[in-house]
Amino acid sequence: MTTPSPVVRPAEGKLGVLTVGLGAVATTLIAGVELVKRGMGDPIGSLTQMGTIRLGKRTDDRTPLIKDFVPLAGLDDLVFGAWDPFPDDAYVAAQRAGVLDGPRHIEGIAEAMRAVRPMPAAFDQTYCKNIDAPNTMGTVNKRAMLNGIIESIHRFREEHMVERCVMIWCGSTEIFLEPTPAHMDLDSFEAAIDANDPTIAPSMLYAYAALKEGIPFANGAPNLTVDTPVLRQYATDHGVPISGKDFKTGQTLVKTVIAPMLKARMLGLSGWYSTNILGNRDGEVLDDPESFKTKEESKLGVLEQILQPDKYPTLYGNVFHKVRINYYPPRGDNKEGWDNIDIFGWMGYPMQMKIDFLCRDSILAAPLALDLVLFSDLAHRAGMGGIQEWLSFYYKSPQTAPGLYAEHDLFIQLTKLKNTLRWMMGEEQITHLGIEYYREE
Ligand SMILES: NC(=O)c1ccc[n+]([C@@H]2O[C@H](COP(=O)([O-])OP(=O)(O)OC[C@H]3O[C@@H](n4cnc5c(N)ncnc54)[C@H](O)[C@@H]3O)[C@@H](O)[C@H]2O)c1
Repeated sequence: MTTPSPVVRPAEGKLGVLTVGLGAVATTLIAGVELVKRGMGDPIGSLTQMGTIRLGKRTDDRTPLIKDFVPLAGLDDLVFGAWDPFPDDAYVAAQRAGVLDGPRHIEGIAEAMRAVRPMPAAFDQTYCKNIDAPNTMGTVNKRAMLNGIIESIHRFREEHMVERCVMIWCGSTEIFLEPTPAHMDLDSFEAAIDANDPTIAPSMLYAYAALKEGIPFANGAPNLTVDTPVLRQYATDHGVPISGKDFKTGQTLVKTVIAPMLKARMLGLSGWYSTNILGNRDGEVLDDPESFKTKEESKLGVLEQILQPDKYPTLYGNVFHKVRINYYPPRGDNKEGWDNIDIFGWMGYPMQMKIDFLCRDSILAAPLALDLVLFSDLAHRAGMGGIQEWLSFYYKSPQTAPGLYAEHDLFIQLTKLKNTLRWMMGEEQITHLGIEYYREE
């Protein structure tokens, strides 16, 4: 039996969007929303803004826009706030990031962009070696940073009179951390904060502050952050949605489409070599081996989980998978990702696929950030706390309940997302069985 549908509270009043980090992704998100609000651009890539959803049978002809079907916050109701160790406002940061064309896409909304000035960041260089900037809280004491974040949330709420907030990590990738006893329960976590335990990264403090304030938290980077037993439990107990990790934008997006195709056709795989060049600040941070390790883990996981080598040892029992990211400044945000895929077919004959994706990192990430904000807020109003697995669609390393493997196949993720929306609104699930179309009258 399906769990009864929730009651979804309407999206009344302003929604504060708090981005941790005011870099390429965050400024591209903010500028894009401001442009769409003024009819100066289209929200391409955003499922919440452009996607439709089929309801009922194929013959029913009911396919509303998702934003007309579920009560999402309107773009006019979004108010942005951010933290960043760089003091640049969103106007300057967007120019620096070099993603959007200034005269075409920044100048016309300059006033709105200048209004987003970064609050001092809870920043500790230990966790992000290649960033060195002055707009910080001036302390690396973890309790002080946590309190500082909470105070800045209060100030933001009062100043902008927002009804609700969502926090999204658009900050740099932190160094690789694994859960320790400090992350197991609230007492240990609180004690670790007081003891300045090195396994408590700034991103965990932002996430904890958000949850304490009843603010949904989404994590666009591969950092551990909110994916620990203590914060998962806290989010569930307090009915606050969480999701992560790592926006699925370029190469991994492609990987989670091609790999299910190979598996669907029972074609074998012997090797997958992925390499990237990118020259933005993200690329610079990922040039540090400790930050790269966090990203590498996130990128490597998907193949193994999609291909299930334990179930298909002949096809996937011996796959060589390599992922490289090279910092190459001339390309800026315009990443190039190459994939060389060695596959084999009938009687083991080898074949190859080559994919060269000349993408724009933040152009792909900004609509995902927007959707995550709007869907996290929707989930909150629907009383859905804890891990939002239906948002896996947006992530390279989706968070799941302990013991549950993540679903990486993009189209299974999309089906799950849409079925969750149908469930929320009391509509029937679509199973694609379709036998009724062929039954005699
Ligand atoms: N663009 C994509 O396609 C994509 C895809 C997946 C994941 N991501 C991740 O999203 C994140 C943002 O990407 P980006 O291209 O905007 O990077 P960016 O370097 O342009 O921006 C990140 C910003 O975060 C700030 N920052 C670092 N630590 C902080 C802290 N403790 N508090 C507040 N701010 C902090 C940095 O100063 C920087 O301005 C990165 O972690 C990246 O790996 C991006």
